[in-house]
Amino acid sequence: MINPLSIVVEIKTHETLPLRAAVLRADTPNKNASYPEDSKPGTIHLGIFDEDKTLVATSTWVMNPWQEDPNAIAVQLRGMAVAVNKQSSGLGKILIDAGVAHAKSHSAIYIWAKARDAAMSFYLRNEFAVVGESFTEGVTQLPHHLVVRKI
Ligand SMILES: CC(C)(COP(=O)(O)OP(=O)(O)OC[C@H]1O[C@@H](n2cnc3c(N)ncnc32)[C@H](O)[C@@H]1OP(=O)(O)O)[C@@H](O)C(=O)NCCC(=O)NCCS
Repeated sequence: MINPLSIVVEIKTHETLPLRAAVLRADTPNKNASYPEDSKPGTIHLGIFDEDKTLVATSTWVMNPWQEDPNAIAVQLRGMAVAVNKQSSGLGKILIDAGVAHAKSHSAIYIWAKARDAAMSFYLRNEFAVVGESFTEGVTQLPHHLVVRKI
């Protein structure tokens, strides 16, 4: 049996940017798809390629403390994006599982994210819990909540 995690590979920042831009910046006022954390030590990008070697899913994992337990090791998930024609086929969950494995390998006990409300059911289905009130995220100008998963 094929291990789903085996289709996940580590990719470079420049590889993740076009998919991030297409999926996460299509309707936003700011089209910049780069993050300051892209060059932070410890940051990795995970990706899944299709049979044509096109990147179809990407996520970025940043060593960053969780606000409610700042002395614990934690990983922030950023840039979670699946190509529109590949969404709802399980790739997002595979990237979350790979990110959890990455975080555990660094002894992290939390993964957390600023989650778009439009994607909240995805995070809840992947064992994240909502923390705090709704806020408008600065770059996208979309409603978000903080979410966290203890691992
Ligand atoms: C949110 C996002 C990353 C999730 O990735 P995904 O690959 O679509 O996620 P999955 O396929 O694992 O799960 C998505 C849904 O498809 C369903 N699904 C998963 N596998 C499925 C399958 N084989 N058949 C049918 N449905 C399936 C899941 O039940 C899930 O439902 P839910 O959204 O109610 O939880 C992706 O949809 C996306 O890029 N959205 C736009 C950008 C975005 O909002 N990113 C998050 C920013 S915070």
